[in-house]
Amino acid sequence: MARLEGKVALITGGARGIGESIATLFTKHGAKVIIADILDDLGQSVCQNIGHEIASFIHCDVCIESDVEKAINFTIHKFSKLDIMINNAAIAGDLKLSILDNEVTDFERVLSVNVTGVFLGIKHAARVMIPNRNGSIITIGSIASSVGGNTSHAYTSSKHAIVGLTKNVAAELGEFGIRVNCVSPYFIITPATKPIVEKYPDLYTNVYSNLKGVDQKEQDVAEATLFLASDESKFISGHNLALDGGFSVINPSFGLFSRVRTTR
Ligand SMILES: NC(=O)c1ccc[n+]([C@@H]2O[C@H](COP(=O)([O-])OP(=O)(O)OC[C@H]3O[C@@H](n4cnc5c(N)ncnc54)[C@H](O)[C@@H]3O)[C@@H](O)[C@H]2O)c1
Repeated sequence: MARLEGKVALITGGARGIGESIATLFTKHGAKVIIADILDDLGQSVCQNIGHEIASFIHCDVCIESDVEKAINFTIHKFSKLDIMINNAAIAGDLKLSILDNEVTDFERVLSVNVTGVFLGIKHAARVMIPNRNGSIITIGSIASSVGGNTSHAYTSSKHAIVGLTKNVAAELGEFGIRVNCVSPYFIITPATKPIVEKYPDLYTNVYSNLKGVDQKEQDVAEATLFLASDESKFISGHNLALDGGFSVINPSFGLFSRVRTTR
């Protein structure tokens, strides 16, 4: 069943990784997509693979307001409307294990992409969604949106911040029929995370959620995002949907169930 038939979606950071997976899945469900990214060649080739009649690329640095404004205007010009805004573009920043080694410029760069970029995406999506009295805005969060100690200080700060922004904007835009939500994945090896895994091979191997027997993939994030983008989630707003196999709600250190477990 095509769950996004007739809808138009803009996806920031859609040139690779999770964003590419979202763009591909959305078009399989009948949506037309605009990919907005700084990686022009990759973005163009994703659109070519999907098909240029339903996927277009625009160069957009989410930290630059005029770029975001242009990307939204391009979407309206090309497809006449914007139903779904996916704020997916983000950077991990350097993982320096002591705060004393963290530079202000690095911290601010992560916040600029991960928070200001999301703010600009929501602002300009809202500009064109408000007159239509309809829309779904989704920001990709992380387990670092709700739990500390897994990523850099800058990244954790930024991912917490966008959950607050999501709630605040959901409060404002509900009046216009616009839903605003977050999807928060666990850990997936993508071009963003591969260098970190290579730098700290022991840190991110053998990290498992509470849920055994499954690994998270880009497609899983795309499926959850599809749900929040579609009308199936029409009464969900201001929510942070954790895709983490229970990781962020379970503290395993007490280990009640592993301690009392007999044989099963
Ligand atoms: N991979 C994971 O384990 C994981 C876990 C939780 C959350 N996330 C989140 O998922 C999202 C996608 O991550 P990914 O792993 O696919 O990363 P990725 O690096 O593979 O993809 C991110 C995309 O964003 C683009 N981008 C970066 N800065 C940009 C800017 N200033 N303007 C426009 N585009 C820009 C990049 O060019 C790239 O195409 C991010 O929000 C990330 O924080 C990832």
